[in-house]
Amino acid sequence: MRALIINGSARGAKGVTAKMGRALAEGLVRGGASVDTLFVADMNIAPCTACLSCMHLNPGHCAQRDDMDVVLPLLKRADLLVWAAPVYTDTMSAQLKAVMDRTICSRQPFLYADAAGLTRHPMTWAMPQKVMLISTCSFPEPVTFEPLVATIRAQAINLGGRCIAELCVPGSLAIQMEPSVLETHLALIAQAGMEVAQEGRVRPVTLEAIKRPPFSVDRYRELAGRYEEWCRKKQAKMAEKRLNES
Ligand SMILES: Cc1cc2nc3c(=O)[nH]c(=O)nc-3n(C[C@H](O)[C@H](O)[C@H](O)COP(=O)(O)O)c2cc1C
Repeated sequence: MRALIINGSARGAKGVTAKMGRALAEGLVRGGASVDTLFVADMNIAPCTACLSCMHLNPGHCAQRDDMDVVLPLLKRADLLVWAAPVYTDTMSAQLKAVMDRTICSRQPFLYADAAGLTRHPMTWAMPQKVMLISTCSFPEPVTFEPLVATIRAQAINLGGRCIAELCVPGSLAIQMEPSVLETHLALIAQAGMEVAQEGRVRPVTLEAIKRPPFSVDRYRELAGRYEEWCRKKQAKMAEKRLNES
């Protein structure tokens, strides 16, 4: 299995999503897969201009020349696409959405009805059949992931594939105050990676364990309180600096 992890965090390798991505990659490799990881924060990828040249003039080829020239060949040979997508304003980051939109060059302009009777474009070239999501968000409530999960699932179906697992860990604000709280989940995410490489799926027991948030809401509030305290001190320091400079 060849896996491609596309990390959409603006903080790239320094973020919590990257930690989850590294754990998943480690498990995938342990299970025999090869893994490429891309960080959109390090890349130059413009939004789709909707010129539709990829459909009408030069089928399968995007007219824009930027770092999608790196992404597209890796996508074409991957069996598994992992969107490593932290929640930004209830969905994925704009940087990652640009990548997602630019995969429109995989589609033909023609139309057909799929097995569910929904209108689709046939593919010019195949996107990875298996899709996964790994995600985190600041807040502690798992419901925060729902719009993002819906988008990833819909996009996988739209491109002829299937989302096989969503590994979402809420509460990154508290995780950053005490990184050790993530350790159990990182081990579980690595386990999930190994299962995907070996069995093509994450076992229900592993999924269920990952779904349990790494701390109670009370513990979250305690750690978040430390964060708020840090913010107050920082703001007070800056206010004092501005006063001294005026
Ligand atoms: C522009 C922006 C929007 C965000 N929106 C949300 C949000 O709607 N809900 C939430 O729980 N966290 C939100 N977050 C917090 C991120 O999900 C959180 O910081 C996460 O850890 C970012 O991933 P990273 O650590 O890999 O960079 C937002 C962060 C940014 C920068």
